Formats: sequence, structure tokens, C-alpha cells
Amino acid sequence: MKSKSFQNKLAVVTGAGSGIGRALVLDLVLRGCDVAACDVQQQALEETVALAVGSGKARAYCFDVADRAAFYQHADRIRGDFGQPANLIINNAGVGLGARVREMRWEDFEWLMGINFWGVCYGTQAFLPQLIESGDGHVVNVSSIYGMISGPLTSAYNAAKFAVRGYTESLRIEMLAEKLPVQVSCVHPGGIRTNIAKSSRLDAGAGMDRADFDKWFSRITLTSPEKAAAIIINGIRHNRPRILVGPDAHLIDAMQRTLGIRYQWLAGALLNPLMFGKSSAPQSRPVAAAQPPAAAMPARPAPGAAKKTSRAGAGRAKSAGRAQAEAENDAG
Ligand SMILES: NC(=O)c1ccc[n+]([C@@H]2O[C@H](COP(=O)([O-])OP(=O)(O)OC[C@H]3O[C@@H](n4cnc5c(N)ncnc54)[C@H](O)[C@@H]3O)[C@@H](O)[C@H]2O)c1
Repeated sequence: MKSKSFQNKLAVVTGAGSGIGRALVLDLVLRGCDVAACDVQQQALEETVALAVGSGKARAYCFDVADRAAFYQHADRIRGDFGQPANLIINNAGVGLGARVREMRWEDFEWLMGINFWGVCYGTQAFLPQLIESGDGHVVNVSSIYGMISGPLTSAYNAAKFAVRGYTESLRIEMLAEKLPVQVSCVHPGGIRTNIAKSSRLDAGAGMDRADFDKWFSRITLTSPEKAAAIIINGIRHNRPRILVGPDAHLIDAMQRTLGIRYQWLAGALLNPLMFGKSSAPQSRPVAAAQPPAAAMPARPAPGAAKKTSRAGAGRAKSAGRAQAEAENDAG
């Protein structure tokens, strides 16, 4: 099959202010592609645009991908500014969150889903009409190797990245079934040396501090953002449905397919010591389960709740734990 050219095409890249997104913009402009570079951070975005040199041109668009209306306005604006429909959207913007399920704050969970999952869906659906109209469209959604396996402390991230994979693969099947001129790729990077750990939220009860978290991240990142961008662009050129980025992504993919659900044992055995040092059984903060907002609190106590609270001292310990967790959260 003839590989795709980017010359005189129009690409939209989200999360273009840093890491993989920035590297994608620089690479695409070099290949003669015009790029609408999007990010929520104006200054970082402008730096990317200033660095982008080539026969294509890059323009900066600052908005929040978690804002559906803003994404649709953005699609109209780009159509007008460039005078042509977009050929390619790379939904790349993403953030991280380290938190145990039983303690995770809803606001953190929803913040992450808004960017990593809904942002991807908004971008896909706002631009699909233009991609179809272009006659040569391509949707590229960035999931993760954590869209194939799960790890400790990453439940929200895993949920979003598994969801991106499901949504993207379904879209591909639809485009094929309807014979629409849109290719669809789902990207699964392994560890890439970017700013994602620094901008991640880390719950006070995660059992590791910011320095440990950064150290852990630097241990698991094998690939540069430039190399990641080159692999992704090569995958797009060859219309690959699944683009694995980095040797670790290939290894984990093979492990997951070989072991099936038993990968969870291996992931725990490898990831717990990597994340928590020698102690593979991290100490939790003394905290009750994360509480839903008052309006969403169940009317009846959950089964077994009465039994638990009847234990001597448990109620007192629970309130003390909750107070401490709230104080930690307020401080963080
Ligand atoms: N770095 C890794 O190891 C790794 C591994 C697997 C998947 N990924 C995924 O790759 C993608 C890119 O991440 P990265 O590693 O380059 O991170 P990064 O932090 O270097 O870049 C992410 C960019 O997204 C932007 N962004 C964040 N929230 C936004 C919002 N609401 N609206 C618009 N832009 C927003 C940030 O400002 C930043 O410029 C993410 O989806 C991430 O989940 C990264």
C-alpha cells in the first residue's frame, strides 16, 4: 500500500505545548503539513509554534479540550482560518493521576476523565465532518499501554485509556463498514520522557511523595518524545489501526496477550516494588472511602456498614481518618 503524504494537508494536534504533542507538531510542519496546534497553556503553545520550522505552517489555539462547546467552536474557526477541512486530528492532550480507588477524590477522577476521555471524544466528533469532507481523513487517538493493562494507583488513567481504545476501535469499524474516507488509529505509548509526571495530580494517600513519583516515572520512560512522534507519524503514514510506541509497549502488549488476565499478578509483582521501593505493601493514609458529593450519597447504608460501625472504636477511627485526609487534601 502506498504510504500517506502530509504535504499540503491540515492537521489538528491537541496537547501541543509539551512532550509528544510538541514533537508531533514539529515533525508534521517539517513534512509540509499545516498544523493547528492546541493546548490549554498559552505560553508553552507559543513556544511550540515558534520552534516549528518547515514548509508547513503552525498556528496556536489555546483552549481546554474538556470544554465541548469550545472544541466545536475551535473546529469551525480552524476551517475558516485555513480555508480547508482538516485531514488529520491527533487527540493527544492528556494528564495523569496517582490515587488509590478507595481514596480517590471525585473531582480528580472527573478532571482526568474530562481531558483524557471526553476531550478525545469531543475532538473526534467535532472534526469528523471535516475529515469526511476532506476525502482523506484520519483520526488518531492517544491511549496508552495503560489502555491494555492496568497498574496500581492508575485506575482513573486506566479507565480513560481503556475507554479511548474501545471508542476508537469502534469508530474504525464504523468507518470501514460505511466505507467512509477516514482512517482511524489508536496509539499506545509505553513510557515516554515528557512532563506528564510533573503535571500529574498525586493523591495525598497514594503512598509516595512527588519526588518518589518523579523517580518512578523516570525509571519507566525509555523513549524520547521525538522518537515517539516519529513512530506515530510512521503509523499514520501506513494507516496502522494500532500504533505501539517504544520497546516497553511491545513487550507489555506481548505479555498481556500471552498471559491473559494473569498479567495482573506479574504487573503487581513488578510495579509495586518499582513504585514503592522495598516495601511492596505500601502504607495507606488512615482514610475512609472517598465520599460522593452530598447529593449523590446513597439513602441507605451499604450492606455490611452497620456491622463495620458496630466494631469498638471503628467509627471514631474513621472520622479521625477522614478529618486527616481532608486536611491533607486541602493542603495539597
Ligand atoms: N509520557 C508517557 O509516558 C505517556 C505514556 C502513555 C501515554 N501517554 C499519553 O500521551 C499523551 C501526551 O502526553 P505527554 O506525555 O506528551 O505529556 P505532557 O504533559 O508532556 O503534554 C501534555 C500536554 O497536554 C496539555 N493539556 C493538558 N490538559 C489539557 C487540556 N485540558 N486542554 C488542552 N491541553 C491540555 C498540557 O498542557 C501539555 O502541554 C497523553 O494523552 C498521555 O496520556 C504518555
